[in-house]
Amino acid sequence: MTADLAVIGLGHVGLPLARAACAAGLTTVGYDVSDAVVAGLNRGRSHVGGVGDGDVAAMRAAGFRATSDATAPGSADTVVICVPTGLGAGGTPDLSAVRDASRTVARCLRPGMLVVLESTSHPGTTEEVVRPILEGGSGLRAGADFHLAYSPERIDPGNRHFGLHNTPKVVSGCTPLCAKHAVAFYGRFVRTLVVSRGTREAEMAKLLENAYRYVNIALVDEVALYCDRTGIDVWDVLHCAGTKPFGFAPFRPGAGVGGHCIPVDPRYLAARAEAEGFSFRMLAAAHEVVARMPEHVVGRAVGILDELGRPPETATVVLLGVAYKPDVADARESPAGPVASGLRDRGATVRYHDPHVPEFTVDGVPLPREKSLPAALAKADLAILLQDHSCYDTTTVTRAECALLDTRGKASGPRVTLL
Ligand SMILES: NC(=O)c1ccc[n+]([C@@H]2O[C@H](COP(=O)([O-])OP(=O)(O)OC[C@H]3O[C@@H](n4cnc5c(N)ncnc54)[C@H](O)[C@@H]3O)[C@@H](O)[C@H]2O)c1
Repeated sequence: MTADLAVIGLGHVGLPLARAACAAGLTTVGYDVSDAVVAGLNRGRSHVGGVGDGDVAAMRAAGFRATSDATAPGSADTVVICVPTGLGAGGTPDLSAVRDASRTVARCLRPGMLVVLESTSHPGTTEEVVRPILEGGSGLRAGADFHLAYSPERIDPGNRHFGLHNTPKVVSGCTPLCAKHAVAFYGRFVRTLVVSRGTREAEMAKLLENAYRYVNIALVDEVALYCDRTGIDVWDVLHCAGTKPFGFAPFRPGAGVGGHCIPVDPRYLAARAEAEGFSFRMLAAAHEVVARMPEHVVGRAVGILDELGRPPETATVVLLGVAYKPDVADARESPAGPVASGLRDRGATVRYHDPHVPEFTVDGVPLPREKSLPAALAKADLAILLQDHSCYDTTTVTRAECALLDTRGKASGPRVTLL
């Protein structure tokens, strides 16, 4: 059976891509190394927030099937690689999934195919990592026998206004013809395409986007640390600065940064630059500041408990929202982890409430979950608002008897302390 598209890696990026392609009428097959992911999708179950079971049903009705058969991508005209690029031991970039997926594609590569890498990685990955594996494993040449492209994903989980179809997408190719084929492919379901000069520019653009967020979050975090020390109301500072209609993009301080992108991607850039003898000082400084934030939150929490006359060892603290961003189920790299860990180290009993995250493990130990918000607040001496999920309306959280440490800057009241 032939297909228009094979998606390699059916996670937070690959599954929405497959959904968009199916909706545009492309016959799509999804390949994943996880049997659980494949079996779940073929039973109509989505494992990705923002893609519902109804979406999977519609995809299946349009002919989508998930498979762990590594030869399946060979049936497609276009193969898009969406596998993880996380960090290995010691926080170093781990490209093993990209290499593994490239080997899978190389084994079934056919002349005329378009292969696109979407995984975020350092500049040079498409040309220096993916290309040699594809060429070496197939005997075919990129740009001559098959087309090779890079197109970073810009998905923003939980964003109701911008999805794949209406977010401009950067596209690049190893040759102008490769880029042309990639544009023709994405043009079937993405409204605006931006063609970069080459794959390295597209790879770097993605890292710049995420490094920009990282550095600016670190800046407001450091402003918050300074304001805390000097008694300046950082939230009022942010409100005032944010009224400038030009030249100022607002960011908010918090307990740290989480997710699979913002804390991870700058490490790819920094490590690559370091290997080339270039020191990215902005990234190093941002990393240092952001890493201080969970401990700062723990320190503020202990200070509040002290004022209440509750030594941490006798106190119950409930974390509100352990996902890394509002109204999503993704808790990867969430700063709630180090916050919980730091509070436990001081002897506090720590629980969490998050309607989106059914399980949350810290240092290998599951954190007890509270399903009911009022019950969670009733049990706690202190609640820490870590994530502004829409369920945390200020009236409910400020009406509670317990103290509240608000790291999102939205609550007010006699028992509320802002970060
Ligand atoms: N999650 C986001 O919001 C986001 C946004 C933009 C870019 N990205 C980037 O996209 C890439 C994918 O991220 P994600 O969040 O979708 O990851 P994910 O962990 O949600 O999903 C990755 C999937 O790939 C599968 N996989 C792993 N190795 C494989 C292999 N060799 N062959 C086939 N399947 C394999 C896994 O089983 C998993 O199902 C990463 O490079 C990430 O940095 C992610």
